[in-house]
Amino acid sequence: MNAAPFVVNALSTTHDRASFACGVEPLDRYFRQQASQDIRRRIATCFVLTESSTGVIAGYYTLAATNVLTTALPEAITAKLPRYAALPAVLIGRLAVSTAFRGQKFGSALLADAITRVARADIETYAVLVDPKDAAAERFYRHHGFVDLPPDRRMFIPIESALRCFRAP
Ligand SMILES: CC(C)(COP(=O)(O)OP(=O)(O)OC[C@H]1O[C@@H](n2cnc3c(N)ncnc32)[C@H](O)[C@@H]1OP(=O)(O)O)[C@@H](O)C(=O)NCCC(=O)NCCS
Repeated sequence: MNAAPFVVNALSTTHDRASFACGVEPLDRYFRQQASQDIRRRIATCFVLTESSTGVIAGYYTLAATNVLTTALPEAITAKLPRYAALPAVLIGRLAVSTAFRGQKFGSALLADAITRVARADIETYAVLVDPKDAAAERFYRHHGFVDLPPDRRMFIPIESALRCFRAP
């Protein structure tokens, strides 16, 4: 049986992060210098997409627990929800694909991996949130079904809708 050409694993010391470059300097710097500290401090987890044959890193994303104020959600959604002040959510704090691997659906694959990982967890979450860093990132998330979460630039997708979007056809 052939091994999968790409794998996703939790960030570890076996990953060579030094040469990772996604074209957005703060995302590269975070991955190289800060991700491990956030993991140690239990602030975030980080998952890495690696090419199996070379060990080259194609992308990464981070997950952290958060919540969403019920009043920030559209009425069409809250009408069907209990009247809690806030609902559990997971933040994809950062998500990036190496410039060497762009346009090959790795961004979508990382999002799908994050969403299925969140859905599989023993603790339930209502929605997945993202903080797009710029207009291009915002378009990327909108393309994948995320909608605005005013008053910030934050966007969200209910986990149920996300699972429908990302479930294999
Ligand atoms: C945004 C990013 C993750 C996309 O990764 P990618 O691997 O090149 O994108 P994919 O090949 O997976 O694209 C999948 C789909 O999203 C679409 N897409 C990708 N980037 C898009 C963008 N900026 N705007 C709109 N759609 C976009 C693609 O056209 C494709 O559509 P299709 O499935 O209908 O054909 C990547 O460009 C990146 O790392 N950018 C820098 C970091 C960043 O902005 N991160 C996100 C916010 S923190």
